[in-house]
Amino acid sequence: MTVRINPSILSADFANMAHDLARIDNADFAHVDVMDNHFVPNLTFGPQMVERIKSTSPIPLDVHLMIADQDRWAPGYAELGAESVTLHIEATRDPVATAAVIRSIGSRVGLALKPATHFSDVEEIAHHFDQILVMTVEPGFGGQKFMTDQMDKVRAVAAFRATTGTDFWIQVDGGVDALTIELAAEAGADTFVAGSAVYGADNPAFAIENLRRIAREHSHHEEHND
Ligand code: DX5
Ligand code: ZN
Repeated sequence: MTVRINPSILSADFANMAHDLARIDNADFAHVDVMDNHFVPNLTFGPQMVERIKSTSPIPLDVHLMIADQDRWAPGYAELGAESVTLHIEATRDPVATAAVIRSIGSRVGLALKPATHFSDVEEIAHHFDQILVMTVEPGFGGQKFMTDQMDKVRAVAAFRATTGTDFWIQVDGGVDALTIELAAEAGADTFVAGSAVYGADNPAFAIENLRRIAREHSHHEEHND
């Protein structure tokens, strides 16, 4: 199974973003946490900054929107060139319509679930998305502890994907490191966001390769590694 490692630039040095993007050029996507101090109690970047990140990044962008009124703002991130835009179901009034707009612009679209949100609540719209993001911390901050109790949800998403023949990616975000990535991979995740575990390492590129190796070793279909 292909695994993807998406470092979160929430843990990068915001004043040296070009340098810190270059340090993760062996990753699959740069994970960009957009926060508005409303949906979550933290504030990061808006479209202008993400557009500059896009023009600077050596790898595609995986934008994770943690803002209010996502139906209104999400398409703009696809328009500026983000290869993937993930919506939170808790901040979206019409997720299927907004997903269709994002896809029509040419980006992948993801659906994120906070820890208290059950997959069964969104199961019937899951096929409209290219990625399901199971949050493994309360969204808002890097450096929090991985919530092992979310692995049942990852298993439910993986079982749904296997039985329905859908092909979305299963992403986990929050507290992912060299130990917890084993649990997430075993549960069925294939796309891993890691902020502090990558940027807190002496060599972020090594940390990415190490996470990728561990995830492959613990994922279900190792024979399909590429
Ligand atoms: C939290 C963000 C995460 C965060 C992860 O709301 O969505 O992407 O950067 O950071 P770590 O890997 O340090 O938990
Ligand atoms: Zn995130």
